[in-house]
Amino acid sequence: MRLENRSAIVTGAASGIGQACAQLFAKEGAHVLAVDLPGKNLAAAHEGRKGITCLEKDIAAEGAAEDIVRTATDKSGRLDIVLNNAGVSSYTRIEDMTDEVWQRTLSVNLTAQMRLCQAALPHLKQSPAGRIINVASVMAEGTDYGLSAYCASKAGVAGLTRTLALELGKFGITANYLEPGAIKTGMTSPLWDARPDVAEIWAKKSALRRLGQPIDLARGALFLASDDGGFVTGHGLVVDGGLMLRV
Ligand SMILES: NC(=O)c1ccc[n+]([C@@H]2O[C@H](COP(=O)([O-])OP(=O)(O)OC[C@H]3O[C@@H](n4cnc5c(N)ncnc54)[C@H](O)[C@@H]3O)[C@@H](O)[C@H]2O)c1
Repeated sequence: MRLENRSAIVTGAASGIGQACAQLFAKEGAHVLAVDLPGKNLAAAHEGRKGITCLEKDIAAEGAAEDIVRTATDKSGRLDIVLNNAGVSSYTRIEDMTDEVWQRTLSVNLTAQMRLCQAALPHLKQSPAGRIINVASVMAEGTDYGLSAYCASKAGVAGLTRTLALELGKFGITANYLEPGAIKTGMTSPLWDARPDVAEIWAKKSALRRLGQPIDLARGALFLASDDGGFVTGHGLVVDGGLMLRV
């Protein structure tokens, strides 16, 4: 058991990468607070799993970060791992960009991550192995049409996390980010199920010639959360099957 008795928060845990991370962390002995929006069947996603408590919450709402941290620490008496995974995609070209699209993307994907790290900090400082893992994207480094808000948010996650690593290292807290490539999840399946040819293009672009699965990211997150990743901080772990190798 690589996370025995650790207490973890995982956001966006009703689906995809967050669901896989919550379940792998719990399997490895962690007490997990799984967070997702109301109406996303969060409890059903983890039915029958030991070690997972569910909390329905919009992470971008006022006071959400404090509520999430309070729920985790009330339940476990401690907090060791924050996995900021919840995110939204947005495909809007710059001519059509609205303040609403821009603000919502930045507020869910970036600002909510900062707030949760900030609210968790007093407890992470008490942990013998405090860990922050923020989910960015390969789009923190690359881009595509219509992704200005999404890319800005994910590049922001990288910058935020590097700075957290620098500022929090003296407390023994590591901070790293994941950069998923093309992963089959709730975010991508609607398009890829409707357009298998598009899924095929993404699969063929990667060196390993397949789409990623949520468990591929969960294994990367587990490395960073466990003692194995104890001397790694301030870095992005690219889990993309070699998608970004070719220019
Ligand atoms: N799937 C990919 O190819 C891919 C690639 C790069 C990065 N990512 C990132 O991975 C993370 C997880 O995405 P996924 O692919 O598993 O998608 P997903 O849609 O399956 O899961 C995201 C979850 O986040 C939740 N969520 C969204 N807004 C929320 C909010 N305001 N409050 C609480 N929960 C909220 C959703 O309800 C959903 O359950 C995201 O940050 C995404 O940007 C995904």
